Amino acid sequence: MSHDSEPTPLTAAPGAPLRGRLRPPGDKSISHRAMILGLLSIGETRVEGLLEGDDVLRTAASARALGASMERLGEGRWVVRGVGVGGLSDPAETLDFGNAGTGSRLMMGVVGGQPVTATFDGDASLRSRPMRRILDPLRLMGTQVLAEAEGGRVPLTLRGPREAIPISYETPAASAQIKSAVLLAGLNAPGATTVIEAAATRDHTERMLRLFGAEVSVVPHGPDGHGRAITLTGQPTLRGTDVVVPADPSSAAFPLVAALIVPGSEVTIEGVMMNPLRTGLITTLIEMGADIERLREREEGGETVADLRVRASRLRGVDVPAERAPAMIDEYPVLAVAAAFAEGTTRMHGLHELRVKESDRLAAVAAGLKANGVAHLIQGDDLIVHGDGTAPAGGGTVATHLDHRIAMAFLVMGLATAKPVTIDDGAMIATSFPSFLPTMQALGAGIGA
Ligand code: S3P
Repeated sequence: MSHDSEPTPLTAAPGAPLRGRLRPPGDKSISHRAMILGLLSIGETRVEGLLEGDDVLRTAASARALGASMERLGEGRWVVRGVGVGGLSDPAETLDFGNAGTGSRLMMGVVGGQPVTATFDGDASLRSRPMRRILDPLRLMGTQVLAEAEGGRVPLTLRGPREAIPISYETPAASAQIKSAVLLAGLNAPGATTVIEAAATRDHTERMLRLFGAEVSVVPHGPDGHGRAITLTGQPTLRGTDVVVPADPSSAAFPLVAALIVPGSEVTIEGVMMNPLRTGLITTLIEMGADIERLREREEGGETVADLRVRASRLRGVDVPAERAPAMIDEYPVLAVAAAFAEGTTRMHGLHELRVKESDRLAAVAAGLKANGVAHLIQGDDLIVHGDGTAPAGGGTVATHLDHRIAMAFLVMGLATAKPVTIDDGAMIATSFPSFLPTMQALGAGIGA
């Protein structure tokens, strides 16, 4: 989404209880990786439940530009025919990733490890995001950075070596994107590539590399065992396989919090991935007193999934430890909304990574809370929200800064504030949750233009 078009303001108004069932779209992290590993494997990868949001479609288009062929068989059903590790071709045009940080950074790892040259670009949000965190380890692996925008940003051009240099790399931030870029570059390295992370981040790359036939070992790391050392054996033959994409917990978060804060609501959210490195929000909300039941826990596509039955609840403020951040990094905007309805103070610790998401999310959340009469404070890297257990005033207009999660979080807020909440632009919601509006409307939510 280049976002040259007019912005789409949306307003959410308080109304009747939310009722019903929904299945959120496929997980964004797994969807990107399915396209990328499909490209890097030999034979067919059949994907079910793919998130067909703009971000993933950009990754699919890039995989095609690098040599994969693919076919859409039906809603969320795709088949990718890959070229194998080492089989990529130079793309004819710039790889335009739109708003997609994950797609672009993971694909930089792919290109950086292989003998191809490609230029990466994106929208104004992506152009503002730091890429040195990816370029630094790639340079150690032999990638040439032929061009980059000031400060190590896109547009940038990479040329990978004939073979990548295997390295052992300690990530400077708890980031699955950095980890994944290094591992993907390591696929074309003769030997072992190790990534050490001080805190465990989402492990979809490791799990899926194994699924496609790579050898990956994971051992606890650090004095408290919270970290991980992940080692990949390079130059495997990856073989196309079936990928079933579970529902995205980061998208489920929006109807989930909506059901908690709109009085009288009861909503069931089906098939939500329960990977423990993704469930920090649910843990936190339950500590806050949320009535969330995990029903029908089962295995789907190598992940545990569950249906979540959510009932409107009286919430209380809690302390959210910094160690939990990697397991709920995308969920803080909507947690801040839940905290605004809770009785007491919620302190969210260690949110520095939020400053480099699709927007500076810490600033964007604070501005949105302010516009809607919620008492709050940023103290260092902590966000503190004060609630008194009643509905905040609302009535504000929130600047979304090309950030889908800011947009959805404040629309959720407006379903239960005293006055409606408006967001300046809902267009970016299509990057991760294209069906957000009709899905929420089907539950009874009053969201519209
Ligand atoms: C993602 C990792 C996270 C997350 C992003 C998706 C991934 O970013 O915010 O939405 O799929 O690897 P970081 O790894 O930079 O924290």
